[in-house]
Amino acid sequence: MLTFTYLGAGLAVLTGALLADCSQASSADYLPTCNAIAHAVSNVSSVYYPGDSSGHYAEDNEHWGVTSSAASACSVEPGSVTDVSKILQIIASTKTPFAVKGGGHATNPGFSSTRGVQIAMKRFSQVVNNAAAGTVDIGAGLLWDEVYSALDGMGRNVIGGRIHGVGVAGVTLGGGYSWKTNQYGLAVDNVVSYNLVLPNGTVATVTSADADLWFALRGGGNNFGIVTRFELKSYPQTDVWGGEAFYSSQYADRLNAAAAKFFETAPDEKATVLPSYSNTPTGDIAIGLLIFYDGPSPPPGLFDDFFAIPSEVSSVQTQSYSSFIKSITYQPDGSRMRLISLPVIQWTDSLLQVVHNESKYWTARLTSLENPPPSLSWQLENMVPTYLSHGDNSAWPPSRAQPFLPGTLLFLWANQSSDSAMLDAIHRSVATISAAARAEGQDIADAWKYPNYAIEDTPLQEMYGGNVARLSAIHARVDPHNVMGLAGGFKF
Ligand SMILES: Cc1cc2nc3c(=O)[nH]c(=O)nc-3n(C[C@H](O)[C@H](O)[C@H](O)COP(=O)(O)OP(=O)(O)OC[C@H]3O[C@@H](n4cnc5c(N)ncnc54)[C@H](O)[C@@H]3O)c2cc1C
Ligand SMILES: *[C@@H]1O[C@H](CO)[C@@H](O)[C@H](O)[C@H]1NC(C)=O
Ligand SMILES: *[C@@H]1O[C@H](CO)[C@@H](O)[C@H](O)[C@H]1NC(C)=O
Ligand SMILES: *[C@@H]1O[C@H](CO)[C@@H](O)[C@H](O)[C@H]1NC(C)=O
Ligand SMILES: *[C@@H]1O[C@H](CO)[C@@H](O)[C@H](O)[C@H]1NC(C)=O
Repeated sequence: MLTFTYLGAGLAVLTGALLADCSQASSADYLPTCNAIAHAVSNVSSVYYPGDSSGHYAEDNEHWGVTSSAASACSVEPGSVTDVSKILQIIASTKTPFAVKGGGHATNPGFSSTRGVQIAMKRFSQVVNNAAAGTVDIGAGLLWDEVYSALDGMGRNVIGGRIHGVGVAGVTLGGGYSWKTNQYGLAVDNVVSYNLVLPNGTVATVTSADADLWFALRGGGNNFGIVTRFELKSYPQTDVWGGEAFYSSQYADRLNAAAAKFFETAPDEKATVLPSYSNTPTGDIAIGLLIFYDGPSPPPGLFDDFFAIPSEVSSVQTQSYSSFIKSITYQPDGSRMRLISLPVIQWTDSLLQVVHNESKYWTARLTSLENPPPSLSWQLENMVPTYLSHGDNSAWPPSRAQPFLPGTLLFLWANQSSDSAMLDAIHRSVATISAAARAEGQDIADAWKYPNYAIEDTPLQEMYGGNVARLSAIHARVDPHNVMGLAGGFKF
């Protein structure tokens, strides 16, 4: 499963502008910082160096996409909050570039990788069910799959990521779309407290009593310190009904019509259908539907329009929440890749036709670029119109007046020489679909983009809108020496 292809490949694509480390310094220049950390931390934490034969260094630097990895000077696996504090203080005093990695699914170069000190949070791996309080404490190094597996046996669940392999920390710090968002909102709407190591090394528990940090942490990413534990609200969880179905593109018109009708009528907040349009190795388009119902079986008739259309394969069935998450197939890791955000107001039939046409158009143009061809997919998300009513006053989204729907394009490819063609294509396709949405009257001029889907050159304003000034002011107060600016990501 793990493909350790990061060495070399990752470095070449890191562009100085995206990284705090704009110098020509080499990884070796940061070895004194690594040695200072190794000297300072307790025996529950470890530092690993390139060439480490235990596999820890490789795994700590590993990401879902090779373009998100870099060869760090060393990796650190902190095992206590005190050690995280010591590490951050050494990084601050030496001004060493660093990265914090949760699940490693950031798709932008340098967002959770570095040539300096790679902090891998995986030793923060506890799941503690506080039954009386109705909350769960979740270590910041966990993947959502691990959380759901732990909670399945307890009949409880939390509001987190939808796809296996994705990390708790990045999803929860950026916003957090879940299979249960229709009913309970975003991940940020379901946090009760954060254990946070502030940029100056002070350890804090942040709750709604701390107005500024509470606001900033709910969507503001890695700008305000390192989170070691999230306390999330929990909800009862039964078995669910769901899986994925794939259809031949000959049924595109019927599928688009069925999906548009389902989205427009929003028949049931327990129900979700997410369509995708992806190229096949033979240059055709496969249409996928991720289908979810939050109960052991859906009400009769709810999904009939979809099931009247013959699918090629379907894994839709009654199962536990964690087995549903694990059953979703996803592109293999280890590719070069980018994700880009495409917010709209409504996935109408005509807009779905535009998306389908885009998938055909770019498949025809990009298939010959590489052999095997790049993997292109247009993945659309849909929620009920009330999905943002379960929380408020968070860093992201900057306004809850219009519940925009996120769409994404995910392009994966193998060869560095294809980078410019792939990046050009992904930007152009988003522009085409956005223009089509505007042409049919959708007011998306100020649509906020989801930071966890946004490509690296996205201006802060397009994600955080009117919240940029307040977030910048909070950052300036909490992190006056810009320690978190030594880590990559969207920066206030
Ligand atoms: C296949 C796939 C499926 C996805 N599915 C979903 C989904 O269902 N819902 C959704 O909302 N999003 C989804 N996303 C987007 C996802 O939210 C982002 O990729 C997110 O960054 C992943 O978090 P991570 O912990 O795995 O990533 P990482 O790369 O480890 O981290 C992402 C960011 O968080 C920061 N960070 C990590 N840990 C900490 C910490 N402890 N303290 C402070 N900062 C930290 C990192 O520095 C980095 O900036 C998906 C992405 C992919 C590629
Ligand atoms: C780690 O350090 C603690 C306290 O210094 C000590 O009690 C413990 O035995 C040590 N554990 C190991 C495995 O060395
Ligand atoms: C399909 O997309 C291409 C590229 O955006 C465009 O030139 C063409 O006109 C579109 N065709 C249809 C039928 O919309
Ligand atoms: C990558 O692209 C270069 C230039 O087009 C080509 O020479 C090389 O063979 C390609 N490598 C792979 C693995 O496809
Ligand atoms: C660390 O930062 C916090 C938040 O700004 C502040 O309250 C605290 O006084 C600082 N601690 C030190 C030792 O400077």
